[in-house]
Amino acid sequence: MATLPQTATAQVQPDIHPGPSPRYPAGPSFLPGLLSGRAFRRIATDSMTEAAQLHGDLVHYNVFGRHIYQLNHPDLIEDFLIKDAAKHHRGVVMQRAKAVLGEGLLTSEEPLHMRQRRLMQPAFLRQRIAAYGEVIGHNATSISTPWQSGTTVDLHEEMLELALRIVGKCLFDMDVQSREEVRKVSAAVDAFMGFLPLALLPFSELIQRLPIPAMKRIRVGQAQLDALIYSMIEQRRADPGDRGDLLSMLLATEDEEGTGRMTNVQIHDECLTILLAGHETTANALSFALWLIAHHPDVQQRLHDEAIAVLGTRAPTADDYPRLPYAYAVFAETLRLYPPVWITARTCETPYEIADYKIPRGAILLAPQFVVHRDPRFWPDPLTFNPKRFSPEAKETSKARPRFAFYPFAAGSRQCIGEGLAWMEGALTLATIARDWRLTPLPNAPVDITINPAISLRPKHGVPLHVERY
Ligand code: HEM
Repeated sequence: MATLPQTATAQVQPDIHPGPSPRYPAGPSFLPGLLSGRAFRRIATDSMTEAAQLHGDLVHYNVFGRHIYQLNHPDLIEDFLIKDAAKHHRGVVMQRAKAVLGEGLLTSEEPLHMRQRRLMQPAFLRQRIAAYGEVIGHNATSISTPWQSGTTVDLHEEMLELALRIVGKCLFDMDVQSREEVRKVSAAVDAFMGFLPLALLPFSELIQRLPIPAMKRIRVGQAQLDALIYSMIEQRRADPGDRGDLLSMLLATEDEEGTGRMTNVQIHDECLTILLAGHETTANALSFALWLIAHHPDVQQRLHDEAIAVLGTRAPTADDYPRLPYAYAVFAETLRLYPPVWITARTCETPYEIADYKIPRGAILLAPQFVVHRDPRFWPDPLTFNPKRFSPEAKETSKARPRFAFYPFAAGSRQCIGEGLAWMEGALTLATIARDWRLTPLPNAPVDITINPAISLRPKHGVPLHVERY
């Protein structure tokens, strides 16, 4: 990867552009990826990386009169996520997503967002997450028990199922009994998630009303998930009591005016959001990690040795998490190279300035994790998978790196609420699988995994790997 040009701030030369007309940072004349959903999925990550290499830390696009700014420097991203956060709203995609997600944590704006976030936060605090360790350990072991040694398993499918089981049990005390049952829920989630790429399209509202097969599939998935969540709420209302999970907290809450309970619709929207946000991202990260270790036998061996030394033959618990620094480093390095949330987007609500450029109201701001996490200024040899970057020995180098050169969970008021859970789920699952199974790529498999950056970054063709029991 070529070295990026100097920062946008350094490129600013006020005397070259005098006069009242607004100045814009350099950038391609249009953002081809936005012209169609298909093109967006195919090229967005590449075209944005290229734009950063060519035009520097602040890139400008004019797409049919809409101003779009791509932020590529950790300092700009820090301001974007923290200092200037109140000047943005969630943007058009999240507004469109309300049509199916309702007003959950992902889509809601202030002040509703902050109120709901405060309410749900206790379910994600350190003490609570410690209780989730056992659920993770148990499920990470049981997911792999049926694998047949010497066969090929699609580990993306398996990780989707695992993450769904974990989020269901930890946050909703939902016991999914059989694999058939999990697969049914997983298929409904998958069908339903098909809506999100549609939300990127300019005529999304119109498309939603068309009787096309894609919309029918989405509606069927939506109906199945609605039925599941509403029946869960009804059952819990009929048998109240604090089970210490997120659903208990939501059910025990007064509504906004303090005059009564949260409605079933409000609770449904939050549960649906958590179910979706909490399982696909983690499953994608774990799938990328397993694919990477299969292609790096030395890393896999070290992960295996650490897991044997720390866990022996028992299932992991939360207490093991700090004792598995290499598993943590493998997960972190995976999140660097393949961040499931590969871009963070907002729309400017209050005009302000970035690096001396005026950002108009309605402009779209993009902070692409995928680009910054691979920037050679902060990550030497950026395309190499090297978990040592996150090992305790690399502490000094990490300290010298800008904080926002790595932000897989974003930051500020919209920082991922499930971050703590995701870290523990990542490390404990990787340790469990690497302890019990040797993973190898299929013969003739490509060295690079094909990615699909539609909404979240996911493996495009699954993660089929050869599994062999130790
Ligand atoms: C590796 C796994 C995960 C990654 C990489 C990830 C990443 C992110 C990122 C970057 C955001 C901020 C989005 C934005 O600012 O636009 C976010 C928000 C969110 N995440 Fe995660 N996430 C992961 C796992 C989870 C889990 C396990 C849960 C819940 C169980 C969860 C629930 C949420 C929710 C509810 C939000 C919205 C928070 C808000 O706006 O207040 N995520 N996530």
